[in-house]
Amino acid sequence: MALPITETVECDILIIGGGMSGCGAAFEANYWGRNLRVVMVEKAAIERSGATGEGLSAINCYMGQRYGWNTPEDFVKYVVNDMMGLAREDLVYDVGRHVDSSVHLLEEWGLPIWKKENGEYERIGRWQIPIHGESIKPIAAEPARKALGPENLYERVSVTHLLTDDDDPGKIAGAIGFGVRENKFYVFKAKTVIIACGGASNVFRPRSVNEGMGRTWYSVFATGAAYGLMIPIGTEMTQMEHRFVPTRFKDGYGPVGMWFQYFHARITNSLGEDYTITRADELKKYEPYGSAIPTPTPLRNHQMFMDIRDGLGPMYMRTEEAMAKLAEGDPAKMDKVRNEAWEDFLDMTISQALTWAAQNIAPEETPSEVVLAEPYIMGSHSGEAGAWVSGPEDLSPPEYFWGYNKMTTVRGLFAAGDGVGAAPHKFSSGSFTEGRLAAKAAVNYLADHPAAPVVGDAQVNRLQETIWAPLETFDRYKGVSTAEEINPHYFTPRQALFRLQKIMDEYAGGTSTWYTTNGPTLERGIQLMETLREDLAHLGARNLHELMRCWEVVDRAWVGESHMRHLLYRKETRWPGYYYRSDYPDLDDANWRVFVNSRFDAESGRWDLFTKPYIRICT
Ligand code: FAD
Ligand code: ADX
Repeated sequence: MALPITETVECDILIIGGGMSGCGAAFEANYWGRNLRVVMVEKAAIERSGATGEGLSAINCYMGQRYGWNTPEDFVKYVVNDMMGLAREDLVYDVGRHVDSSVHLLEEWGLPIWKKENGEYERIGRWQIPIHGESIKPIAAEPARKALGPENLYERVSVTHLLTDDDDPGKIAGAIGFGVRENKFYVFKAKTVIIACGGASNVFRPRSVNEGMGRTWYSVFATGAAYGLMIPIGTEMTQMEHRFVPTRFKDGYGPVGMWFQYFHARITNSLGEDYTITRADELKKYEPYGSAIPTPTPLRNHQMFMDIRDGLGPMYMRTEEAMAKLAEGDPAKMDKVRNEAWEDFLDMTISQALTWAAQNIAPEETPSEVVLAEPYIMGSHSGEAGAWVSGPEDLSPPEYFWGYNKMTTVRGLFAAGDGVGAAPHKFSSGSFTEGRLAAKAAVNYLADHPAAPVVGDAQVNRLQETIWAPLETFDRYKGVSTAEEINPHYFTPRQALFRLQKIMDEYAGGTSTWYTTNGPTLERGIQLMETLREDLAHLGARNLHELMRCWEVVDRAWVGESHMRHLLYRKETRWPGYYYRSDYPDLDDANWRVFVNSRFDAESGRWDLFTKPYIRICT
């Protein structure tokens, strides 16, 4: 089977991923670098790609500085507490001080934001504002598409590897990928690269299996590429042990924030008890974070988890109780509340509205089951896994600063959104903002480093053969057995994904093990993961779509292995409700209020793990 043709694209800035942060990056790069060639590569089509593709019901990161609601310092305090003491204050502040302007831009471009009678934005919680957000993604994509120009936007191209400079492996040189609908390789030779390709779902076995496969909370298209691209070239990562376990409406994965904060609903167990009251004392074990307001996300989970573990479920979101209270017996008010309840899901998680319809649930009459979902590895929501990046020059101490804001430890390689670690609670607006900041810094870097990268044929040819191998393998061996999916010479990406999810679920603290693991279990899991990674060289793909699935599972395996190695290294339980180390059940601020970082060395195959200090900047 011959290798397909190659298109080579040369540019100054390459943005990988056209989601929220990628669109922000494209917009901003055009503003500061009009004389530069800025190229975006996206595996889907940017109008509906990424985690905001099916819409949102809120902007979850907005300071409201013009109304005097919050300052960036307030935001830093909130985020650090929510992460149980660990977030990079410089990075969080940087998002906080710029995010409002991004929200105002989104509004100018057509995003309908709910308003009060006096014209102020409506509020859900302290940081969240409601939107009619079904179309947030096309609204964010339009200015990005315009800024790039059609000749610079490569859609339906999946990136599989980053390229490094032949003369200097510590410097980025571009990326390589293939067309998911055409037999073609794309080689992007770039002076700078911005990683904007989202977080990781489906690393852990989801609660939805078999007939429900594909229904997860975070986007199924968030396949861990940001991490899977950066780790193999030796990029320093941080907080990869961190994860987000969302409390969600059962089976439809409907988010809960609007219900807690806007409708003021509570959850009760089968005895009618509210765990925030019956489990209040549990929070005292986790001071000073236990008394933070609001209660940190993992601790809210932890309180509910204790009820579930003690067999006190099902847990019900008392939608009917909350809606009745808000309507005060007035049918017109009830109509408004009912519309808002359905819109919350129809704007963002249509599957939850379908679940309600399918199960004859009228939320004003019937409460809805909620559960703790499977873990997700991500950096933009209530999770903080990602690259260790430089902070901004005016804020960051030397330990956190190496020249260019949002630049990783690989020179010329920047990250944004889910790809940046230790900077959570950015959500859609903050990811867009971080993309803008990364692009501005990349333009700055280019002014100082204008030289083109050196990428010879050897690196490209080697990667092309690797990328195409699953198609070759299938072609060579397909006749060896009668069933295409059962063959001694290869396994399919779907089979590989199930194997990965089983390892993660059973050894790394997934749902079936009550989010619990320990040192020996992790060590065994890492052994199994190493074998899986060896076996991934024997993937078989029947077509281009499966080839994409192959590379997605490779990315997810990098995420899984990195997650387990970090879990093993951090000897404490810092985030009960996200995961439990049964051999180190307590939070240990004295020894472990530090970031855990790692670097993979491709030549030796070794992982190096170490800590970085937590430095106060504005708390
Ligand atoms: P994404 O927006 O996911 O973008 C990643 C992009 O990279 C995608 O376009 C993807 O197709 C592309 N990509 C991935 N791999 C590759 C590859 N190998 N090659 C090329 N391209 C690739 N935020 C809020 O503010 N409010 C909310 O109400 C809210 N609710 C949410 C509800 C749900 C159900 C979900 C899933 C998310 C929600 N979020 C919300 C969070 C928000 O969507 C994310 O924080 C944000 O989208 C992260 O931005 P990102 O740019 O890092 O990733
Ligand atoms: S969403 O992004 O998928 O919509 P979710 O509904 O859980 O997520 O959260 C939306 C926002 O509400 C986030 O900022 C989250 O931190 C916040 N949130 C959710 N539940 C609570 C709660 N009980 N108290 C305070 N904040 C909450």
